[in-house]
Amino acid sequence: VRITLRQLLDHAGEHGYGVPAFNINNMEQGLAIMEAARACDAPVIIQASRGARAYANDIMLARMIDALAEIYPEIPLCMHQDHGNDEATCLTAIRHGFTSVMMDGSLMADAKTPASYDYNVDITARVAEMAHWVGASVEGELGVLGSLETGEAEAEDGHGAQGKLDHDQLVTDPDQAVDFVARTKVDALAIACGTSHGAYKFTRKPTGDILAMNVIEEIHARLPNVHLVMHGSSSVPQELQDIINAHGGAMPQTFGMPVEEIERGIRHGVRKVNIDTDCRMAMTGQFRRIARENPAEFDPRKFLKPAMDAMRALCIDRFARFGAAGQA
Ligand code: G3H
Ligand code: 13P
Ligand code: NA
Ligand code: ZN
Repeated sequence: VRITLRQLLDHAGEHGYGVPAFNINNMEQGLAIMEAARACDAPVIIQASRGARAYANDIMLARMIDALAEIYPEIPLCMHQDHGNDEATCLTAIRHGFTSVMMDGSLMADAKTPASYDYNVDITARVAEMAHWVGASVEGELGVLGSLETGEAEAEDGHGAQGKLDHDQLVTDPDQAVDFVARTKVDALAIACGTSHGAYKFTRKPTGDILAMNVIEEIHARLPNVHLVMHGSSSVPQELQDIINAHGGAMPQTFGMPVEEIERGIRHGVRKVNIDTDCRMAMTGQFRRIARENPAEFDPRKFLKPAMDAMRALCIDRFARFGAAGQA
């Protein structure tokens, strides 16, 4: 059954759990997420980036979500636009049946340049007003995702194209968060605490100097009823790096967001936990393994089925650890 982000996160808040939000680009990822949800009786957030919409086509994505809702009728399903960059992206998502949108006004519409606070408030409030007219939910973001180690935004996509960011820009300010939520009326607030997107978040297991979990606790203390969102929440497990590298891959050693830090966030108001990279790595590890172990194989299903199985296992683990299992 289709539900909004608001409905889903209100339930998560009441019962004190977190919901992983997994990214989708194709049928196999959709089936892996929903099979995992069915296996552990969990509610689901599926999200599509602008890149996913361009890759799969809006019509295809919309029909895939219809199909998943029909195949898994017992699972509460929220379809969410990940990192909408302007009004048009958010409104066309809703038009295609998404029940929730992220308006990421922490960056300008180029999705690279950090935006002013006034720009962020203005565009997010406008999208929230329009989305709420038609019953969709809105996630906003305050603070720019990026590395506290290097001062770079979006660590995976290059080297300081927009110059170094200040600590203030990379960690959400609790006072500003209070003002932002009041002025925009968002249903959920994504915060920045030192994580970034992609596989290369940290050069070592993160400690308090490079991962500002305390800011989540401060924001939750000020805004106890606001649903917080953690982006860049892949854990980049060592075993997935090892599978990829054991079968011809060449990923440099890296560290992600430890699951125990996410669990700590969930104890302090984090209700939506965005995960894409881990799912990509789970699938790619199997593509590489099959290609290595059976070089004569040429049926794509022989690659995709183990990849789906690996992604499903990853999703089951996150549903369980975030407390979403049994909550559908
Ligand atoms: O926000 C980042 C997500 O991992 C989506 O990535 O834009 O490559 O689809 P993408
Ligand atoms: P990861 O790259 O850590 O999986 O983060 C995904 C994300 O935040 C999508 O919005
Ligand atoms: Na999002
Ligand atoms: Zn994100």
